[in-house]
Amino acid sequence: MTARAEPPALAVSGVTKRFGGFVALDSVSLEVAEGSITGLIGPNGAGKSTLFSIIAGFLPPDDGTIRLRGEDVTGEPPWRLHARGLARTFQIPRLFPRMTVVENLMVAAPNQSGERLPAPWLARGRIRREEDVLRARAMAVLQRLNLARHAEAPATALSGGQKKLVELGRALMSGANVILLDEPAAGVNRTLLREIAETIAALNREEAITFLVIEHDLDLVADLCTRVYCLAEGRVIAAGSMGEVRNDPRVAEAYLGMTFDLH
Ligand SMILES: Nc1ncnc2c1ncn2[C@@H]1O[C@H](COP(=O)(O)OP(=O)(O)OP(=O)(O)O)[C@@H](O)[C@H]1O
Ligand SMILES: [Mg+2]
Repeated sequence: MTARAEPPALAVSGVTKRFGGFVALDSVSLEVAEGSITGLIGPNGAGKSTLFSIIAGFLPPDDGTIRLRGEDVTGEPPWRLHARGLARTFQIPRLFPRMTVVENLMVAAPNQSGERLPAPWLARGRIRREEDVLRARAMAVLQRLNLARHAEAPATALSGGQKKLVELGRALMSGANVILLDEPAAGVNRTLLREIAETIAALNREEAITFLVIEHDLDLVADLCTRVYCLAEGRVIAAGSMGEVRNDPRVAEAYLGMTFDLH
């Protein structure tokens, strides 16, 4: 018997997306190896966030397929993909402003009705205890993200970078093991940026979480990612290590005129 190769955690194949007459994604293909941190870079408007929306089921593609660990999941809604272990964060954090930080995490956990939990030990005060369990899990996640001291603060009291971390926390609460991060370090100060990078690396290493990361900070991408794809005008124009991609003249050309450079 020959050993079968492990399918990639995520395989995007020939994905095309049009908005009216505008082609936002033009036959995009990429793979995210199981256990990897893969990067997705490219100038503003390249189609990166649109690709995330399609992978995570927020938008249907016009053409192409998405495979999660070898299974075709194209067009499945976000909640079903969540149940399969896939979650995404948003470029602009989407937190519940009236809830505290810990509550924002708690509501991201699946199966909150309690109906599918084993009944006996939860028979009395079931909902309450379920909430205690959830709160404890959320606190453990906040600890991991170094946000525990803000647990009872309203989500609106956090800085932009901390809100990004709460988004990651919500993805972790969903139990995801494939997480799409949309610009986790955008608008974040250098200290928090290092902390976010270390947290992503630790989650990858210690909890075997696979990441696909959109990021404009290319040093961060170089630090974290073994493989990087560059998207420009809806097409993959380069793939390889960050070093290889950085030196690709097509990439340099695509970034021309942007407010940051390739270093
Ligand atoms: N719902 C939509 N309707 C029409 N056009 C859209 C829609 N969503 C995105 N676009 C367009 O598609 C293109 C790609 O947008 P997208 O947000 O995916 O880019 P991006 O690579 O994430 O850019 P950035 O780095 O600025 O976040 C842009 O020109 C954008 O205006
Ligand atoms: Mg974007």
